Amino acid sequence: MDQEKKLYPTGHNPLFINPSRPMPKEVAVIGAGTIGPDIGYYIKTALPNIKLYLVDVVETALKSAEKRYAEYTKKALDKRKMKEDQAKAILDNVIYTMDYGQIRDCDLVIEAATENIPLKQRIFSRVEELVNKDTIITSNTSSIPADRIFSKMRNPERTTITHFFAPAWRSLPVEVITWSGASQETVDYLLWFFVQTGKVPFVTDNAICFMLDRIFDNWCNDAGYLLAHASAGEIDKVVEEFVSAGPFYVLNMANGNPIIVETNTLQMEEGAHYKPAPIFRSVERWFTNRPGAKVAVSEETMKIIRDRMLGILFSQSFDIIDRGIGTKADLNYGSKIALGFKKGPLDIMRDLGEAEVKRIMKKFSQDRPGFPQPKASFKEYQSFNRFLLVDEVDGVKVITLRRPEALNAISDEINNEILSVLKENADNPAVKGFVITGYGTRAFSAGADIGKFPQTLGNKAAAAKFAKDCAEVQLFMDQMEKPVVAAVNGMALGGGLEIAIRCHGIVATKNASFQFPEITLGILPGIGGCIVPYRKWPQGAKLFHEMICLAKSINAKEALEIGMVTKVVDSYPEMIQEAVKEVINLKGKIKRVPDGKVAIPEMVIPEPPMAGKQLLSREAVAIAVKTIKEGAAAETFAQALERGYQGNAEIACTDAAKEGITAFLEKRRPEFKK
Ligand code: COA
Repeated sequence: MDQEKKLYPTGHNPLFINPSRPMPKEVAVIGAGTIGPDIGYYIKTALPNIKLYLVDVVETALKSAEKRYAEYTKKALDKRKMKEDQAKAILDNVIYTMDYGQIRDCDLVIEAATENIPLKQRIFSRVEELVNKDTIITSNTSSIPADRIFSKMRNPERTTITHFFAPAWRSLPVEVITWSGASQETVDYLLWFFVQTGKVPFVTDNAICFMLDRIFDNWCNDAGYLLAHASAGEIDKVVEEFVSAGPFYVLNMANGNPIIVETNTLQMEEGAHYKPAPIFRSVERWFTNRPGAKVAVSEETMKIIRDRMLGILFSQSFDIIDRGIGTKADLNYGSKIALGFKKGPLDIMRDLGEAEVKRIMKKFSQDRPGFPQPKASFKEYQSFNRFLLVDEVDGVKVITLRRPEALNAISDEINNEILSVLKENADNPAVKGFVITGYGTRAFSAGADIGKFPQTLGNKAAAAKFAKDCAEVQLFMDQMEKPVVAAVNGMALGGGLEIAIRCHGIVATKNASFQFPEITLGILPGIGGCIVPYRKWPQGAKLFHEMICLAKSINAKEALEIGMVTKVVDSYPEMIQEAVKEVINLKGKIKRVPDGKVAIPEMVIPEPPMAGKQLLSREAVAIAVKTIKEGAAAETFAQALERGYQGNAEIACTDAAKEGITAFLEKRRPEFKK
């Protein structure tokens, strides 16, 4: 915990930060090689109206960067991911230049040049002479500790490392390094900036290769040593169990062999066991296959590969955690979103179990003596929240759902983690209550994880059980003495909205929106969505009919008008403050969802039923209408909820549900027949 505090002294959720400086207006990226232009492109897509300077000493590099930007925008336009005016704004105001003098007004300068300390130092002393003394200056090095690059700077407090992952225009993670020369204000500003612009920043300590490249470089390096026992193709095939592409395939794509030599040589400062495999110096490309190709590997070879590769993966993971280079959650999650691991290293350990991990580590210590071994118990490495950030603000636990790659969609694991945090603290007198919010600026939560739904389709009992299991968090909140307030920072959809409405209060930012899109998938909100709104805010019943049966989306103002939301604010930090205040206001005043029948207005369903341009299933709409009516007519809240679960079960067995869910997962529009 102390190590986590050291990495995140201001809190885990960067959007709590209220920075003293605004978004940058002018940004420079130095280095127009592979990653530099991609970093620039990400910034321009997030902030199309800023001025971006792309600086290099080689004119051809600048020309090809310009071409790359045109290709990227064309592709986005072709795929309808971007509008013409957006593409134009992105391409406008990019200055491709060899003249450093042009960057003098930049608020942020990111260097992405060759990994060479004297070169980087020369670039930075030149930059520092030109720019304002408050300009934030960062390097995208993947391996060199910050002090070796920045200690000669006149104002090192505004410098640090921001390490991106390929392809940087799209890949979510960025490591932000905390080091003794940088001010906390600089680190905090960068964390805030990255989340605001759609990235997922991880704070890491200033160790050689930081956090995620220690995993990647050593994973590749040990694959190099394993070539004594197996071919590159065999190794890539066996580790496909854990990663989307094996080390040799990735090294070919990234021309990465020299990188492994360089970064592992640097790590040898920590011991000779990090020595780069000599073969990386003499081979340019590896003979391997595309992921998914058929490769026969003998049982014995497979075992050797699996044990060694898991050994190095676990060794590095233990070391990162034990030395406080990164947090367990960041390491686990970062390995997935930065390095393509199908499960995080700590998830793999959990699934294998303690005895098997012990066996692998023992074998690894014999094969590769000198490498770090675990210093804590198996249980300790497993005790963390994988999908939640938990912060404390004025005695209130603030829970942030962190799964931005799926717009914070709620999986079983997220549900279980929320429930555990609530249960663990429900009787703790030091905790006043809870706030639940979403990571990033787009979504509170885009609903229950649709990927799970196919399992329940066509099976009434399974669908009813699924809804009931998912409802555990809500049922627990219903009887809690401590208030829980939802802080809705963007879209609250479906199952996400079903959590928000069951909290004891809701505050929202002005860009928040509330919607039950289930009917467009041929299903209905089965975890209280057809029941709770009518009982808590009967004055909004007409609107709820449209929300549930026609997928109408309402904004924060409309939600405020019907009393669903108690306060609408301008910014995320304000939202957290207000939510915390609301928790304190609600002490001893929690209103329970009432029993008794509820009168609801007549439902008028247009023919044909439409949600925008989407034709809905009449059959599904009819089941939603019936469920709402029966829920309102139920004598008790518990009976009404039961009606909701049954409605969910009934609709899961329709053709509409099958078509709607399949269409979403196939990324197409559904075509409902009845
Ligand atoms: N469950 C699982 N994954 C979800 C999800 C959900 N409820 N909502 C969004 N995602 C995933 C998407 O599949 C996508 O993943 P991918 O990048 O691997 O393809 C990612 O989140 C981003 O969503 P995307 O659809 O690409 O973003 P968008 O801006 O084009 O659209 C939404 C945003 C919210 C309109 C769209 O994602 C959507 O309709 N989601 C489903 C909402 C819903 O019906 N919820 C009710 C379920 S209870």
